[in-house]
Amino acid sequence: MKKKILAAFMAAAMVAGMSAINVAAEEEGGDVITVGFSQVGAESDWRTANTESMQTTFSEENGYELIFSDAQQKQENQLTAVRNFIQQEVDYILLAPVTETGWDTVLQEAKDAEIPVIIVDRMVDVSDDSLYTTWIGTDSLLEGRKAAEWLNAYATAKEIAPEDLHIVDIQGTIGSTAQIGRTQGLEEGVEKYGWDLLEQQSGEFTQAKGQEVMESMLKKYDNINVVYCENDNEAFGAIDAIEAAGKTVGTDIAAGEILVISFDTTNAGLTNVLEGKIACDVECNPLHGPRAEALIQALEAGEEVEKLNYVDEEIFAFDDTVASVTAVNSLDEEGEYAVTPITQEIIDGRAY
Ligand code: AHR
Repeated sequence: MKKKILAAFMAAAMVAGMSAINVAAEEEGGDVITVGFSQVGAESDWRTANTESMQTTFSEENGYELIFSDAQQKQENQLTAVRNFIQQEVDYILLAPVTETGWDTVLQEAKDAEIPVIIVDRMVDVSDDSLYTTWIGTDSLLEGRKAAEWLNAYATAKEIAPEDLHIVDIQGTIGSTAQIGRTQGLEEGVEKYGWDLLEQQSGEFTQAKGQEVMESMLKKYDNINVVYCENDNEAFGAIDAIEAAGKTVGTDIAAGEILVISFDTTNAGLTNVLEGKIACDVECNPLHGPRAEALIQALEAGEEVEKLNYVDEEIFAFDDTVASVTAVNSLDEEGEYAVTPITQEIIDGRAY
């Protein structure tokens, strides 16, 4: 694509109103790198921050042409988008896959077309990992384990017996890496500590579905005292449902409050932590634009890149009852992770 663009570039740039900086870059002989990005959708605050990060990074000013495609949480839309990118002979394909399976055929087509594929955020489960070049994202299993260890440490500190924790799990999109890892983290905790897991149901990572699922669970069970939400937007919906039912979210389980655990640490999520409505929020960092760009630049320079690139992430809680948790990551390495009590200053200093 780069070679084809060069010949027609100046004329096309005038028509397309391309920035002066970019035109100057071309005049100096720099190549525009064409990137096709198939995004999951716009289901959550996290996803919005992720889209912004990618769009800001892969800008004309930075020497890129970004072809952005929103899949609206549907894999079939992503398959079509990737095939369109192949037809357009992009230089790189960035894929944030909605679910892990079902990618072998289309990734083989990209490989046959010699277009490097960078998987972003969630993972793909393929028979041959040479079907993609590299992956950048978060360790969802570690996130789930961190949350489970926080719950155990908190309940132990407050002398709440494991069998007295009555938990519902509002899961993410079934089959997505974020759901698989976070659900597994909770289920391991249930197995290890003997908690009472009442029900698991998908909230599709959205506020509306999170609220709907919580409403139905509240009608079925009168003893729920922990809600494990697999992202912040589900937590916002669950909190609305709990309050509408006349119950209180908080951390005093013995006094009848319902304790909410969440993932993402978006601005609104951490604000809920500060207000004591979410007890613990485990970070899932969405700012993958610069990380994906660093991988592309390394590939452009002919360098080898790591196959799996995990992002370091934090844990925030409403108070300092739990100072740290010990958990094993997806590479089977045990680590100790600090839990930071949230403050307004921390929220104000964050980028999303
Ligand atoms: O894959 C990352 C997850 O997807 C985030 O936790 C969630 O908010 C998003 O929709």
